[in-house]
Amino acid sequence: MACVQWNQSYNVDVHEIDEQHQKLVGIMNKLCESIDGGVDDFVIDEIVQDMADYALSHFETEEKYFREFDYEKTDEHIARHRDFSQKVLSLQKDLREGGNTVSSDAITFLGQWFADHVLKFDKEYVECFHEHGLY
Ligand SMILES: [Fe+2]
Ligand SMILES: [Fe+2]
Repeated sequence: MACVQWNQSYNVDVHEIDEQHQKLVGIMNKLCESIDGGVDDFVIDEIVQDMADYALSHFETEEKYFREFDYEKTDEHIARHRDFSQKVLSLQKDLREGGNTVSSDAITFLGQWFADHVLKFDKEYVECFHEHGLY
């Protein structure tokens, strides 16, 4: 079962960003399904790495526009992105060092955190992006 239920309310009306958000949630859901399906740890580790890489490139996209548009909440938003990356890193550490398996609950938590981030923080930059003609 998907661990993050994506719906229209998460759209920020910026095409490139909406696509990236959906793709990231897709990777998270793939991860939950793989964990629930008992897939080998090394495969899980690869998907976690995919998620980490994709999240990073998504954050870089947003941060590029923040700088380009001189977005007023740039610093605090970037700090939120770093929080997410830290959470993923500690998940990877657990997985690699402890030999612990990652639970789908942990990914669901991460997915929910991400969804909340979109609703609370990404939505705040939409007006600024739109003012600069980015849809
Ligand atoms: Fe985002
Ligand atoms: Fe963001």
